[in-house]
Amino acid sequence: MRVFIHGLMLLCLALNISYVQADPIKIKFAHVVAESTPKGMGANLFKKLVEERLAGKVVVEVYPNSQLYGDEKEMEALLLGDVQMLAPSLAKFGKYTDKIQLFDLPFLFDDLAAVDRFQASAKGQELLHSVEKKGYYGLAFWHNGMKQFSANKALRVPADAKGLKFRIQQSKVLEAQFKALGASPEKLAFSEVYNALATGIVDGAENPWANIYSKKFHEVQKFFSETNHGVLDYMVVTNTAFWKKLPDDIRAELEKILAEVTVEVNKAAFAQEMADRQLVIDSGKTQVLQLTPEELQQWRTTMMPVWKQFEDSIGKDLIEAALAANKKP
Ligand code: LMR
Repeated sequence: MRVFIHGLMLLCLALNISYVQADPIKIKFAHVVAESTPKGMGANLFKKLVEERLAGKVVVEVYPNSQLYGDEKEMEALLLGDVQMLAPSLAKFGKYTDKIQLFDLPFLFDDLAAVDRFQASAKGQELLHSVEKKGYYGLAFWHNGMKQFSANKALRVPADAKGLKFRIQQSKVLEAQFKALGASPEKLAFSEVYNALATGIVDGAENPWANIYSKKFHEVQKFFSETNHGVLDYMVVTNTAFWKKLPDDIRAELEKILAEVTVEVNKAAFAQEMADRQLVIDSGKTQVLQLTPEELQQWRTTMMPVWKQFEDSIGKDLIEAALAANKKP
């Protein structure tokens, strides 16, 4: 037997065939938020499950907090193969497909449950595949939460926001939303938001509670208005060529794990939205304003013209499908 194995090794050497096991496939997963947020937790859970179930075959390296790539470079890095998985917010996909701008329309979804229903629908799932032609493969939608406005001034009605400068994500819809308020939108990477708020480069922002609390935005903004006026959710994406080239059994297992992680992330997002809101209130470092139905209606009326502006590029059918998801089954 020993002679046989020795002979086999010599034969492999002679034929220049590697007889040692191949290196594991490496997946670098980069994101811009804290590990305590739904997305941060999801990336870490994905790593844990992959390394348990595909031990020796796949390793996952997670880079949170814009450590590896920030908003500006990550999508390009994914195409170049320098990173294999990302989960940018849906707002950041607008430059690859008009349709996905749907998610940024103000007051489209009543709450996260409505977003969840829409994403699970056939139209929602179509959007997951809307970036494939650009080389990106959508794997899942992950929730974060509904956005709240903040500033150092109490924003009760839209007129209070007039003339203020607000940080926005890279999104034409969000740009139009702040213009509709008579405010100035300023596109900045997420990693720059705290500093921009702390030093007055911008006056305000819009964020979900998990991002506000984990990045301490409540320590540099005197007021938050509970508007829940839009959603901040994610698409987990990979490089299409990378994903298709994976061995079938490994790809199938990764997709199975991701489906499990998605359930956990989305469950956590619902709970965390309320928990982080309470932590912000309990910090005593800011004031959370609850608006009356009349005040909320004013925000809605002022921002609604944005829908018309983007109706043709997004598609009326998609807007209607999203609205239908507001109805509880
Ligand atoms: C932002 O830029 O505000 C968010 O997209 C950050 C994130 O990933 O939640």
